This record gives sequence, structure tokens and C-alpha cells, in this order.
Amino acid sequence: MVEILIAPHAGFCFGVRRAINIAEKASLLTQEGRRVFTMGPLIHNPQEVDRLRGKGVEVLSSADGLREGDVVIVRSHGIPPKRERELRRKGLTIMDATCPYVKAVHEAVTQLAKEGYFVVIVGEKDHPEVVGTLGYLEEAGGEGAVVERKEDLREVLGKERVGVVAQTTQNEAFFKEVVGELCLWVKELKVINTICNATSERQEDVYQLAPEVDVMIVVGGRNSGNTRRLYQISLSLNPRTYHVELPDELQPDWFKGVKRVGVTAGASTPDWIIQGVVEKIRELCS
Ligand code: F3S
Repeated sequence: MVEILIAPHAGFCFGVRRAINIAEKASLLTQEGRRVFTMGPLIHNPQEVDRLRGKGVEVLSSADGLREGDVVIVRSHGIPPKRERELRRKGLTIMDATCPYVKAVHEAVTQLAKEGYFVVIVGEKDHPEVVGTLGYLEEAGGEGAVVERKEDLREVLGKERVGVVAQTTQNEAFFKEVVGELCLWVKELKVINTICNATSERQEDVYQLAPEVDVMIVVGGRNSGNTRRLYQISLSLNPRTYHVELPDELQPDWFKGVKRVGVTAGASTPDWIIQGVVEKIRELCS
């Protein structure tokens, strides 16, 4: 009989759960004839986005088709303040599902900019959270750079006073590496660690679980950055690591002769998908 070990913090984080609750509440407004939208998918999980669509919460890629009275849910990633003002000017009702941990990054860059630091955001350049954070930096009149790879640090060379924050879902090891490099190069360094607990807890689970099992399954949207990072960490510890979005993607070959399987899931993966994956693993191993 195969043993399936589920990581203690697998699946929805506090911010995603909160965003979904806000979307569920917003969906009730469709009963009054209001149209409800999210700008881009609410979370990086296509199946959960489809479930909400079934309740009337549509996904928009641009604000062009919006009209007065429409309801727009700001995603947990947040948006630049300028963008929010534009939406309000259109007469839209804004329901803000920005995660409080993301708001803390906005506050951190605003504070650093006001104190005159050149701001380094350790994160993915095109990630909506980072785009939103850059908007707050601009609003505060600050200057900064996004560091996605070590090479990006070249932009920071020559700066005397540098403040560092992280995208909330950033890999802790990379954040440490960047901070370690910077403290050798700049005169004054101020670090505000804005990686949220949900990320570190999920990554810590993988460090513990992946070396202990024969096969590790990471469940989550392929467009979910935090899921992809869990996969990369797990793969570095256990070569038999697989990333799946849905139970049907599990292959019987992966489980031949296996005694222990570890399962974890990104912060945007709903429980019903994790349960489906666990059941399918049991079926394939029986
Ligand atoms: Fe918020 Fe962290 Fe989740 S920033 S949305 S609690 S991964």
C-alpha cells in the first residue's frame, strides 16, 4: 500500500482564500443585473477561474468594454494606483482583493523611496504584482530596478543607498543571494523582507518532504509562479518530481515500485483539485 504524504501547507493561502471570498460576494451582485469582472484571472488557476465564471465573474484583459456601474475586482496581486484611479473615474465599483502582504510591499517601496533609497525589487519583471509595486514606487517619486536574475544587479552598480524588497512569492534562497551580493557593493543597504509566510511555509514543506519520498507531485496552474518555484525546489532535491495541473495528467509509469509519494500544491490551488490528485495517485498505485 502506497503512503501518500500531503504537505501541511499545500494549497490556498490566506490572500487567495480572501480574494475568492470577495469574488463570491461580488458574484451576488449579478442578481441585481450588475456585471462583475476581474482584470485578468483572479488567481493563477484556470479551473478555479472557470468555477467563478460559472457564478458570473468574468475575466477581462482590458478595461475597454467596461461601463459605469460595472463591478471590478482587483486581484490579490494588486494594481498600480494610477490604474485604480482610471477605473474609478469610469464610474466602476472597485472591490479590492489585493492581499495585505502585497499591500505591505507597496508600503515598503513607498517608505524606501521617501527615504531616498534606490529601490531593488527582487522578483519577476512582468509579474502583475511587480507591475503594481512599480506603480507605487513611481507614485512615491522613487527610482528602482527589478532583479530577476543576478545579471540584473548590474543596473544597481554605483548606487550608494539601496533599499531591497521582494515579490511576496520570491524564492528565499535567491533573495538571500541578492542581498548577499548587494551588501558587498553598496555603501548603505536597507532590507525589508516582504516574502510572505505562505511562500516560505510552502517552500519549507518541500525542503522537508521531497528528500523523504520516492516521488513528489506538485499540483498547480502552469501560469502560477509560486507553484513553479515549488516544483523547481523539489526537483533540485528529488529528480522524480512532477508538476501537474489536473489529476488526469498523472502517468502510471511515475509510480512503478513506489512506496511513498509526497504531494504539495501552490498557493492558488483549490482543495478540490488536490483531493482529486490524491485519489488518482491511490488509483494508479492500487
Ligand atoms: Fe498573499 Fe502570500 Fe498568498 S502574498 S496572496 S498570502 S502567497
